[in-house]
Amino acid sequence: MSGKRVLLIVGGGIAAYKALELTRLLRKAGIAVSPVLTAAGAQFVTPLSLSALAEDQTRTDLFSLDDEAEMGHIELSRAADLVVVAPATADLMAKAAHGLADDLASTTLLATDKPVLMAPAMNVRMWLHPATQRSLRLLQGDGVTIVGPDEGPMACGEFGPGRLAEPEQIFEAVAAALAGQGRPLAGRHVLVTAGPTLEPLDPVRVLTNRSSGKQGYAIAAALAELGARVTLVTGPTALATPAGVDRHNVETAVQMLSACQAALPADAAVCVAAVSDWRPDTVFGVKLKKGPEGPPSVRLVENPDILATLSARGLTRPRLVVGFAAETSDLEGNAKAKLARKGCDWIIANDVSESEVMGGDNNEVLVIEAGGVERWPRAAKAEVARRLAARVASALA
Ligand SMILES: Cc1cc2nc3c(=O)[nH]c(=O)nc-3n(C[C@H](O)[C@H](O)[C@H](O)COP(=O)(O)O)c2cc1C
Repeated sequence: MSGKRVLLIVGGGIAAYKALELTRLLRKAGIAVSPVLTAAGAQFVTPLSLSALAEDQTRTDLFSLDDEAEMGHIELSRAADLVVVAPATADLMAKAAHGLADDLASTTLLATDKPVLMAPAMNVRMWLHPATQRSLRLLQGDGVTIVGPDEGPMACGEFGPGRLAEPEQIFEAVAAALAGQGRPLAGRHVLVTAGPTLEPLDPVRVLTNRSSGKQGYAIAAALAELGARVTLVTGPTALATPAGVDRHNVETAVQMLSACQAALPADAAVCVAAVSDWRPDTVFGVKLKKGPEGPPSVRLVENPDILATLSARGLTRPRLVVGFAAETSDLEGNAKAKLARKGCDWIIANDVSESEVMGGDNNEVLVIEAGGVERWPRAAKAEVARRLAARVASALA
């Protein structure tokens, strides 16, 4: 957590003293704290106590010439990784919900582009009032994380929901929010297939293709960077396993399918592997020899369809199934037909008639889904992977 910064807004509630303990916990964890105290908040705790515990100056005044010169309110609102409001009074919630900005705290909340976490605290009737519940819904709709309030005896002598969550609970929510930043796929499992398959004819000969696995491995790496648990089922490649990825080596399409099924359940499956459509009907136990009878005839049988199998409706279907289409003609038409035939959610189509794509470091793809087609510009496979991983993250969000 060290290196992270929280902007802590302390509102004017009786529970403001708990913000001091929260500040202590954050600092103990190495999180920097920039405190902002509302005028009402300053009736309950002093700027001096807050500054001492935060080891930073407490700001209170929107129109302070000194503070604005040192760090303006816009900069202040953006310098932190997370904005925390504790206690969030009914007044602060209402102002933030409606975009009012008449003091430093509310102006900061309106100017920030960072995630916001609020820990409400107020009298039970204030909490249950339709106006506060309306503010709550608006704030949740704006993506604000709400921690608490707890239920129990209150300073005002009443009992019910409205108590500020304990500082430890708020601290844990802050730690979780900071840990989750930049890792939108944390807690998700994504299955990725990559590389070619290798279909044996005899102990030394195989039917395979030119797939290098580079695009699939780059996607596995990009998904892992966004926090996903990634299972990579791969045909033979010369590539190193990306950091944090759980790799399962297979050779044939049949092995690839059973490794994929064993990896389920998954939140998403991204099928990049170039799976051989066919395999030799007979696998000879000994090496085939040249002879007077001439070359052998090889009959092919169809391999299982991994993408269609994973896309089939059922309890274990990943929420998002993405297939790749390697085409050498009518890229868009063939890819759209594949989307419909396989039952997957997106097809990433690339034209492999260009010698640069298979085995190369760049790719130019179409992203096809029921709603339309996106044409992505030619880019490094790592860049295509990052863009696709971000798209997967927003689809699963
Ligand atoms: C003794 C006392 C305790 C208060 N406690 C709370 C409280 O816990 N929650 C709340 O929303 N308002 C509480 N208020 C009312 C707020 O202080 C008041 O609405 C104020 O305008 C809030 O300003 P702020 O949101 O800018 O901090 C209390 C007021 C007093 C006098």
